[in-house]
Amino acid sequence: MDNNTLLEKLNSLSIEEKIGQLIQLTGDFFEGDMDTVVTGPLKKLGLNIDYNVYNTGSILNITNPEKIIRLQTDYLEKSIHKIPLLFMADIIYGYRTIFPIPIAQACSWNYDDIEHAASIAAQECYDEGIHVTFSPMVDIVRDPRWGRVMESPGEDTLLARKYAQSVVLGIQGSNLDSTVPANKIAACVKHFAAYGAPVAGREYNAVDMSEHTLREYYLPGYQAAIEAGVKLVMTAFNTLNGIPATGNEWLNRDVLRQEMNFDGVLISDYAAIEELIMHGYAEDEASAARLALLASVDVDMKTAVYANQLKNVISGNDHMLELLNEAVYRVLKLKNDLGLFEDPFRGLQETVQLPTSSVLSDEHKKAALSLAEESVVLLKNEHELLPLSKHTKVALIGPYAEENSTLGMWAIKGEEADTVNLKTGLLKLVDPDNLSVCRGAHLLPLDAREAFDKYADKLAVETSAEEVLLHEAIRNANEAEVIVLALGESIYQSGEGGSRTNPTLPEPQLKLLYELSLLDKKIILIVYSGRPLILTEVVGKADAIIQAWYPGTMGGEALANILYGEVNPSGKLAMTFPRSVGQIPVYYNELNTGRPNLKENGFYRFASRYIDEVNEPLYPFGYGKSYTSYEYSLLSISQKEMKKNELVDIHISVSNTGIYDGKETIQLYIRDKFASVARPVKVLKDFKKVFLQSGQTKIVEFSIHEEMLKFYGREMKYKSEPGEFDVYIGSSSQEILLSFSFILLPEDNHE
Ligand code: IFM
Repeated sequence: MDNNTLLEKLNSLSIEEKIGQLIQLTGDFFEGDMDTVVTGPLKKLGLNIDYNVYNTGSILNITNPEKIIRLQTDYLEKSIHKIPLLFMADIIYGYRTIFPIPIAQACSWNYDDIEHAASIAAQECYDEGIHVTFSPMVDIVRDPRWGRVMESPGEDTLLARKYAQSVVLGIQGSNLDSTVPANKIAACVKHFAAYGAPVAGREYNAVDMSEHTLREYYLPGYQAAIEAGVKLVMTAFNTLNGIPATGNEWLNRDVLRQEMNFDGVLISDYAAIEELIMHGYAEDEASAARLALLASVDVDMKTAVYANQLKNVISGNDHMLELLNEAVYRVLKLKNDLGLFEDPFRGLQETVQLPTSSVLSDEHKKAALSLAEESVVLLKNEHELLPLSKHTKVALIGPYAEENSTLGMWAIKGEEADTVNLKTGLLKLVDPDNLSVCRGAHLLPLDAREAFDKYADKLAVETSAEEVLLHEAIRNANEAEVIVLALGESIYQSGEGGSRTNPTLPEPQLKLLYELSLLDKKIILIVYSGRPLILTEVVGKADAIIQAWYPGTMGGEALANILYGEVNPSGKLAMTFPRSVGQIPVYYNELNTGRPNLKENGFYRFASRYIDEVNEPLYPFGYGKSYTSYEYSLLSISQKEMKKNELVDIHISVSNTGIYDGKETIQLYIRDKFASVARPVKVLKDFKKVFLQSGQTKIVEFSIHEEMLKFYGREMKYKSEPGEFDVYIGSSSQEILLSFSFILLPEDNHE
């Protein structure tokens, strides 16, 4: 439909029909009790009696193709305007084929594979009738207490930008004009803005941050999604410096729409418009509706506020009417971009008839396996215990030994029955005679259930006595040569509403580890979690540690391949692992302070330090071991004085000096030594992940350009400043193997 026809359609709508386009409901408003996923208040919406559900614009989290066809058909029959419904859902890291959780994906540093994973998720959504997915989430996070770390690309801005771009391209395709190609769906970047920084890591808590920090670190991820053409943005639940994001005109109109150039649909998070009242920012529903519309929020997810209030809000107010028209236009345009006016089902009626579907195909599972293998991070490998020989007698112990509930909380269509657990994965490689399997401990303390609220029913009911489990574990361990201990937090301990003050392994599992560590056996610990756990107490008790995250449908196979050396681990942490809760937030790109804690000063009280803890984290950003070893050497630097329009080209050689083939991620950090605002001790500016056969050397090239030197100055202008810069190249943010300095020349020196 061309733009004029779209505008005609808009103008032909009554006020009620226009407002309807801005309302998002769940399917149960149309027929019976439909399955849906909700994370907010379940109370009845309280829609006005005269609200016509056949004016509604979109549906939340209905993911069954037959239901989608039924709802759309019924809707088109009964609505007067015949504008198709949009079906939106949370398909965050896979539809039926579940990929590793996003924080794990970020540890792969493999953005081609991340894009591929997103395109598979989009394909499966498309095949099942979904039009919009609420992904990517690009909220930077520095606090592992927050539950939604699992959905985040981690603590770094460059990684968040790359994640945003790859996922949007994977979901929508690279076609930057307005139409979404067939087989693709629309993406929604969230949560605007800074949702990943709630005070003390407590879910939905206030966010207080300087405008500088917001612009420098938090906004670029969303910006990258916008530049990749993302169709929707979702608001955040939090206040930002006192103003709730969902009613924040400065944030959404001035920054998002004007500065960041976003002209797509802005949707509220679940009930976030209504929550403006709870925040104490809106006096009542009418004021909440007015504030949200002023802030250019187009769609009200799952509340009655727009439906009940907008008509009065705009009545007699031309400006508000204009804002309403703009909002409705954006929703209609999205429908048009998806081709819904031509085919409201986007081919679904034909697809459901087909005998084969892409959903959970072998090809998709292969991609999930490969991304899982790249996401796993080897944290420790003392005396090169790993990889294991297939002849070693292994006792696989732990609540995650045979657990299929490893998909994480936002795998709403993922099925445990499709999941390859660790035991199944291991049995693909080893003789059952060399493997014993037992649970060893309860996943959680028995009295923990009530903290899980509506998820309590989903937790495994622990029937065996702890002593019996432990006894069996000790017996199996004694009969084996090596213990593979599969521990972790429950998937319901992370995810939305999963903030923890003390993110450690659950207590029964710590006890199991402790008891097993008293035996004279090597222990390989595999940690399943949705966040960096505090592993300080654990590290000394295990000889090797593998961070598995929630590795998705093919997770067990990926871990088995790593344990037995079929695959060499190559994941690098996208988020710092603190030593203690007291260190939080701890992140690599911190400022120097006026009194840095310099090693050469030894213990010096009046430095920026703790008296009871070192400053350094347990495992730094960018860290991850391999079964092989790499050597770096600096070959050439094109120049050490650079003009603004020039490049500093760097060539290094990287050699695989060990006996295994492997992939190494070479990281380039820059420090601006002196500037008009203090700059971090280092900032990741580029990286290359390269495959090297054992004994192979490759030349790796980096180019530094002026854009990489820019930052937000005091006036919030993005610019570089001349002066000296340090460059660090290494295998993590701490393990710097090469370094040098160069000068950015002042403009005057330019010929
Ligand atoms: O997309 C989600 C969001 O991330 C959290 N609140 C609910 C939304 C829709 O389900």
